[in-house]
Amino acid sequence: MSEIPARPHMDPRIDPARLPNHIAIIMDGNGRWAERHGLTRAEGHEAGARGVRLAIEGCREMGIRCLTLYAFSTENWRRSKTEVNVLFRLMSKYIRKEVAEIHKNNIRVRLLGEMDRLPVRAAADLRYCLDLTAGNTAMDVCVALNYGSRTEIARAARLLSEEVADGRLRPEQVDEAAIAARLYAPDHSEVDLLVRTSGELRLSNFLLWQLSYAEIVVTPTLWPDFDKQCLCDAIVEYQLRARRFGGRP
Ligand code: FPP
Repeated sequence: MSEIPARPHMDPRIDPARLPNHIAIIMDGNGRWAERHGLTRAEGHEAGARGVRLAIEGCREMGIRCLTLYAFSTENWRRSKTEVNVLFRLMSKYIRKEVAEIHKNNIRVRLLGEMDRLPVRAAADLRYCLDLTAGNTAMDVCVALNYGSRTEIARAARLLSEEVADGRLRPEQVDEAAIAARLYAPDHSEVDLLVRTSGELRLSNFLLWQLSYAEIVVTPTLWPDFDKQCLCDAIVEYQLRARRFGGRP
C-alpha cells in the first residue's frame, strides 16, 4: 500500500460529512473472474488480494473508520485442500508484503474469528501483524478469518452463560448491549454499509448481528475488478438511501 496522500482524492459526489463509519465487504467472484480470463482459481485469488489493497487504501484515504473484510468463512474449509492452502499462503504473502505500509498508515488490523484452526505459518504472520498494529488509531481493518456469524453469536451466549453461572452477571443484565459487548469486535457492533460483489444476494453467515440496520449494496462487479471507483459508487448509493432505523422522520 502506498502512503496516504496529504490531500486524498474524494469523489465529488460523496458528502464527507455523511460517510459510513463502518463498511463491511463480502469479496466474492475470484473464481468466476479467473474463469473469464482463462486463469486458475489461484490466480483469481491472487488478483483478489490486489483488490484488498485498493479497498483498504480507498477507505483510509476517505477517512472511513472501520473496514471489515470477509476473507475466509468457517464454511470455506469445505473447499479443496489445494484451494484452502492457496488462500492461506496468499494471506501470509499479503501480510508480509503489506504490513509495514499498513503500520505506517496508522491502521490497526483486528481478527474476527478463531485463530485455532489456521495453518501455523498463517497464524504466526497474522499474530505478528495484529501485535505490531495494535496501538494504531487512524482506522481499523477487521479481517473475518475462519469466521462464522452463528459461531460468533453462540460464543457470546456461552460467555454470558458462564458469567451468569458463576455469579458475575444477573440474568436480567443479559440484553442487546451485553451480547454486543461479547462479539469479536465489540466496538464495531454496527455496520453502516455492506457491499457484496459478483451479484449474489446472500449474507453467507456474515455479521448477522452487526448488519441489522446496514444498507446493502450489491454490485455485479467481480471482486478482482472492484477498484476505488467502485468503492466510491457504493458510498454514493449508500448516501442516497434514507436511513430510518425502523422509525419514521
Ligand atoms: C470469493 O471468491 C473469495 C474468497 C473465498 C475469499 C477472499 C479472498 C481473497 C480476496 C484473497 C486474499 C485475501 C486476503 C485477506 C489477502 P470465490 O472463490 O468464492 O469466487 P467464485 O464464487 O466466483 O468461485
